[in-house]
Formats: sequence, C-alpha cells, structure tokens
Amino acid sequence: MAMTLSQRADALEHQMIEELDRKVVKSVLFTSGERDPRQPIMPQGGASDSGKRKHFMMGDDPRLPKMPEKPTLLDFFKYRFAPANHLLQSATHALKGGHSEKVVLACLLHDIAVSGFIRVDHGYWGAQLLEPYVDEEVSWAIRYHQALRFFPDESVGYSYPEAYIRYFGEDYRPEPYVEQAYREARNHKWYMTSRLITLNDIYSFDPNAVVDMNDFIDIIGRNFKQPKEGLGFDGSPVAHMWRTIIWPTKFL
Ligand SMILES: [Fe+2]
Ligand SMILES: [Fe+2]
Repeated sequence: MAMTLSQRADALEHQMIEELDRKVVKSVLFTSGERDPRQPIMPQGGASDSGKRKHFMMGDDPRLPKMPEKPTLLDFFKYRFAPANHLLQSATHALKGGHSEKVVLACLLHDIAVSGFIRVDHGYWGAQLLEPYVDEEVSWAIRYHQALRFFPDESVGYSYPEAYIRYFGEDYRPEPYVEQAYREARNHKWYMTSRLITLNDIYSFDPNAVVDMNDFIDIIGRNFKQPKEGLGFDGSPVAHMWRTIIWPTKFL
C-alpha cells in the first residue's frame, strides 16, 4: 500500500531516530499544541527507547548540518536559514531601490527568526538576536516591522497585504499589543526605516528570481559586528539564543 506524504515523513524521521545513538527529547515548544504541554515528553523513540540508547543528546545533532566552531552570520544563513530566498529577495529589492545600507541589512535580516528560530513574535526575537551586532536603528526597525506589517500607510503606498486576508481571514484584527507597538512606531524618528522593511517585504515568492548572497557580503562586513569568538560564544546577552539555533535538541 502506498504511503501518504506524512507517513513517509514519519517513517523517515523514525529511521533517522533509529540511527541515533542518543535519546532526543524535544523542547516543549517543538510540540506544544500537538500535545498538551503539561504532559511529560517522552524520548522520540518512545518510552521503550530508554534501554537501547543510554544517553541524552547533548551536542551536535547528527540529523542537522554541523556548524563551524566559530560560526559567522553567513554560516547561520548557510546551515540554518537556507535557502532564505524571501530574505534575499527583500534585500535585493531594497538594494535596487537605492536604499541605505542600514535598510538593506534590515531587509536581509528582518525574518531570521522565522527562517531559523521561532515564528511567534518573530520581529521581536529577530531584533533581540541581532541587537548586540547591528546599529540600533536596524534592530529597532526589525522589531517594529512585526507590527507595521498589519497597518497600511497609503502615503508611501503600503496597503494591508492581500496575502494576510488569505492567511488570517477577513476578520482578523491584530492583538492590542501589536496595535500599541504600531502607535509607538508611528511617532518614532526611525518609523520610515521600519516601514521600508514592510515595503520591501516581498510576498510573491518568485522561485525564479535571481538572488545572490554575494551581493550583500560587503554590506554585512561594514554593518554587522561579527564577534571573533563566533555567534553563540562571545558571552553577549543573546549568545544562548544563537547556541539554541546551533543545538536545538540539546537535552539541557
Ligand atoms: Fe516579518
Ligand atoms: Fe518578511
């Protein structure tokens, strides 16, 4: 009998788990909703797994591409955020529009949380990940694009995205905290930087668009303070967040 796509995915996952010599226990966030977060989480091979594999996953997960010891932002793009087409398309659009390097960088990085970390409140997570390494205006703009995406500004030609009507339904209204953030942003000196992210936030993902990370290497070099110890190992207040992206299945 032919397997459905999801059965095939399950079988593949099962096979990969079988080949591991470590027990993997997913963080609550991985499965919350699919299961009640108040229930204990079993190792992925099931309760019977405990006899076969003695130890819990505590480092590199062999199912994931291994990252260098001192990872750079580009390494994260390569090993964790790829293919990152949406980000490259937005940044390319901003570059062609003749915008400042800050705006281009903000466009390139605005959705890294969606690409590689956590979707919910992605503007806030993304801004926090980047804060120690970019100009304050860049992380501010990334934080507030989260809210600005939902509010039109016809004076610059930004309307409520049609895609959002399809995604969220006709009657979706952003939560009060999002509206509050929008009001803060509206009166801020950097409003337009964040607004430009939304204007370059390409929603028609053209699979044939030619984009190339090489277009942005110099802009990153000039505007992103790459720590010499590598992202995750520089002792910054957000180093643990980068490490979590490197080792999302580490037991503790
Ligand atoms: Fe976004
Ligand atoms: Fe986006």
